[in-house]
Amino acid sequence: MDVETAIRTRRTHKAYGSEPVDRETLDALLDLGRWAPNHHLTNPWRFYVVGPAALQRLKDAVGPEGAAKLDRAPTLVAVAYVATPDDPVADEEDLLAAGAAAYAILLGAHARGLAAYWRTPAILREPAGRAALRIPDGERCIALLHLGPRRQEQRVPERAPLSDVRIVLD
Ligand SMILES: Cc1cc2nc3c(=O)[nH]c(=O)nc-3n(C[C@H](O)[C@H](O)[C@H](O)COP(=O)(O)O)c2cc1C
Repeated sequence: MDVETAIRTRRTHKAYGSEPVDRETLDALLDLGRWAPNHHLTNPWRFYVVGPAALQRLKDAVGPEGAAKLDRAPTLVAVAYVATPDDPVADEEDLLAAGAAAYAILLGAHARGLAAYWRTPAILREPAGRAALRIPDGERCIALLHLGPRRQEQRVPERAPLSDVRIVLD
């Protein structure tokens, strides 16, 4: 799949088959994330592959309602970045780089025929959720990527037309 097709046809999926993404494929996807642009080559991203014990800890932290939503996809990866609150410019750049890494993973998954979803559950902004995934204090979690086999076609959500978002300057 070429890059433009991948960008245009990737969709957010909330229903998955039960087969986890195999280790080799998952490593290939995370390795794609590593090639996202990052200023000063800080490599700010961290990828937390959620195993069964970590998933259980996260479910315990979020409570029964939130726990059910954590079972939607067979493979979960939390994306965090190493924060630098005392340097807001570097912090912003590293946040954006980690976002680019997360997107690269979504696109790579889509190109391989997998379903994926960028989710930002509130629990990962809270100490209990961060502790469940062993995310240290100096990092900020920006995504809980859901990955797994595709189960259904997704509707295509509207985007604002280019004319609404393009500003042509003299
Ligand atoms: C930073 C970020 C956070 C997101 N968090 C959530 C989320 O918590 N829950 C959710 O349903 N979708 C979340 N999404 C997915 C968007 O809702 C989705 O991309 C949007 O509806 C467009 O659909 P598409 O991805 O199929 O084009 C998030 C997307 C981004 C980029």
